[in-house]
Amino acid sequence: MLAQVLIGERFAAPTLDEALSKARLSTRDAGLATHIVYGSLRYHLTLERALQPLLRSNTQNKVKALLLAGAFEKLILETPGHAVVNEYVNLAKRDFGRLSGLVNAVLRRVSAPTPSAETELSLPGWLITAFENAYGEGAEAVMRDFLQPSPLWLWLTGQGVRDLESEGAAVEPGFGDVYRVTLAKPLRASSAFVRGEAQPINPASFAAVEALGDVRGERVLDLAGGAGVKAAMLAARGAHVTSVDVDARKHKAARENLSRLRLQAEFLDADLREAPRIEGADFVLLDAPCTGSGTLRAHPEIKLRLTPQAVEEMAALQAQLLQSAASLVRPGGSLLYSVCSVMEHEGPGVLRVFLQRHPEFEASGLSIAVPSVQDKFGVRTLAVGGLDGFYLSKLRRLP
Ligand SMILES: C[S@@+](CC[C@H](N)C(=O)[O-])C[C@H]1O[C@@H](n2cnc3c(N)ncnc32)[C@H](O)[C@@H]1O
Repeated sequence: MLAQVLIGERFAAPTLDEALSKARLSTRDAGLATHIVYGSLRYHLTLERALQPLLRSNTQNKVKALLLAGAFEKLILETPGHAVVNEYVNLAKRDFGRLSGLVNAVLRRVSAPTPSAETELSLPGWLITAFENAYGEGAEAVMRDFLQPSPLWLWLTGQGVRDLESEGAAVEPGFGDVYRVTLAKPLRASSAFVRGEAQPINPASFAAVEALGDVRGERVLDLAGGAGVKAAMLAARGAHVTSVDVDARKHKAARENLSRLRLQAEFLDADLREAPRIEGADFVLLDAPCTGSGTLRAHPEIKLRLTPQAVEEMAALQAQLLQSAASLVRPGGSLLYSVCSVMEHEGPGVLRVFLQRHPEFEASGLSIAVPSVQDKFGVRTLAVGGLDGFYLSKLRRLP
């Protein structure tokens, strides 16, 4: 699984879902496998620095993936060294034959790398600076939080809470209708999920939905609606949702998910770099594509691929989409800009330029349930305790 993520550039969550559904492991072993894959990704920079002096430049990528997992167990989980070496040498014998000697030698010798901010936080220097710019003194807590396993957050109906508890899950209060849940069996097998009483969503993502205001009975444009998580939450709050996305496959997933939740929305396939020819609305949500820099706890593979250039390219796309979204807001209406990234360029950077060019819009105040840091244009949710880092800005079109 790790090799597929590292070499194939796949996302960890679907890779794990696919492999674990085939492997039929016990819940405990599946949990450990998940922990090792995500942990090896979360600590990737640190582990790579530890392994680097011991590897030849031509070491096969698959062997490297195995060594990363072994080093994670030895250095981070602190599993006794001899047990790690034994286990991984056996795996190497099975999969790589004579390379098991290399695995043996490397895992015996590997030790913690020279300490630095980068190896402590498992982040490259430019990302550390970017998080410091975003959160100031709060940055270190955010970066340390990203090294922890992600909790499961579920939006639940009252019935959903009761169903989960009766099946042995621990349901702790989170933020409003979004709870922190420890499951007793896989989510998809729980009656709350099957009956449409549960929807996975991070509280920071839910905050974007709440920030749009009271949408009961209102027409809402859900732009860049993707697989429709926010569309579903808007529909659950009584909105008449039209969801627009360039990716028709995501609309298929969204339709299936809404039907599971017994909710409805309309879908339109369109590239939002140009404004689609549809009627404007008083409530518009743009959940723009982004680098995902605020979701490194749940998606640690993102930090392996993130570059300053990718941030800039994303900001340019976001500016284009914001322009289209703005043209669909009726006078007096609201536009909520949301990204699951905390990079300056993708948040305030986009808003600053937009508001300079569009005096018919103003940033209006926005209060949300999750902890956040405010600036001139909006808020950045504080990515601690398993919350994602979102940048949210609510714009009002002057009447
Ligand atoms: C952050 S995701 C949306 C998540 C979604 N709102 C939800 O809550 O489930 C961003 C979405 O932007 C879409 N997207 C990217 N470029 C686009 C474009 N040019 N026009 C329309 N949608 C685009 C992607 O397909 C992706 O679904």
